[in-house]
Amino acid sequence: MTTSKKVRKAIFPVGGLGTRFLPATKAMPKEMLPVVDKPLIQYAVDEAVAAGIEQCIFVTGRGKGAIEDHFDYSYELQDTLEAKGKKDLLSEVLAPVRTPGAITYVRQQEPLGLGHAVWCARNLVGDEPVAILLADDLIKSGRSCIAQMLDVVEQEGGNVIAAMEVQDEHTHRYGIISPGQKKGAITEVNSLVEKPAQGTSPSNLAVIGRYVLQPEIFDELDRQEKGAGGEIQLTDAMARLIGKQPFHGLAFDGERFDCGDKLGYIEATLAFGLGRDDLSDGVRSIVKSAYQSL
Ligand code: UTP
Repeated sequence: MTTSKKVRKAIFPVGGLGTRFLPATKAMPKEMLPVVDKPLIQYAVDEAVAAGIEQCIFVTGRGKGAIEDHFDYSYELQDTLEAKGKKDLLSEVLAPVRTPGAITYVRQQEPLGLGHAVWCARNLVGDEPVAILLADDLIKSGRSCIAQMLDVVEQEGGNVIAAMEVQDEHTHRYGIISPGQKKGAITEVNSLVEKPAQGTSPSNLAVIGRYVLQPEIFDELDRQEKGAGGEIQLTDAMARLIGKQPFHGLAFDGERFDCGDKLGYIEATLAFGLGRDDLSDGVRSIVKSAYQSL
């Protein structure tokens, strides 16, 4: 099976409360936390755009206005930078701004779970396959992770989710794949379990925050059933698509950082800092001296 329609749209659910980062997230969306000098949400949008995504749909909530401002013009700042001749900074400020209509926003009135957030975008997606990116899962890769997933959709059809091996003691934190046949980095998904109790996980293959799903996902989400943690879970809706449509996990080429978690965020800052020509020497010497003082 191959998909009939090109994947043109991506959903960015940014309606969560970000409680693990309080008080930083009291007045600022978690997705605006910077890694080095770029907010998490911009990394995710850049990844989608690099994969050819044309329309970004943000599912926002109260207190998320800074995200809209980030992707818009900032006339006062632009004028000031222009007057001072700071061309490089000016192009950084303009980089996130997209053509009018290329970003749309819908509000998730209550944070009822990731599945609910995705469902809130149903009328903007319509009858098309869609990519979904969770900005707090930051991916460092050569080729865009979503682009790698679109290759698999092209090849296998149906639905593709990003997957990653995790340690036994961490399986209870993730949606876990019960694996079928394997073809290189691509694993057929037999079933999915959201946050299995310790010792009951069907594998170590965890689902991370990148999905390319067919529009039938919205029929499943229409049921609005609550799952683990009393939330409407995307995993439960995806699990019901398995068997009806091809469903694969891709062990993508790249590294994932859980920036919704403090340690993951610190790790990401170091990795991205080390990856920058202008900062790597400085970061290396900071890490070395911190290591010596342990
Ligand atoms: P998390 O599970 O990390 O929840 O959501 P959270 O509220 O953002 O953070 P904590 O756990 O309280 O610290 C995973 C992703 O799903 C989105 C979040 O914005 C994040 O990108 N999400 C979650 C929603 O958009 N709406 C929800 O109701 C729940």
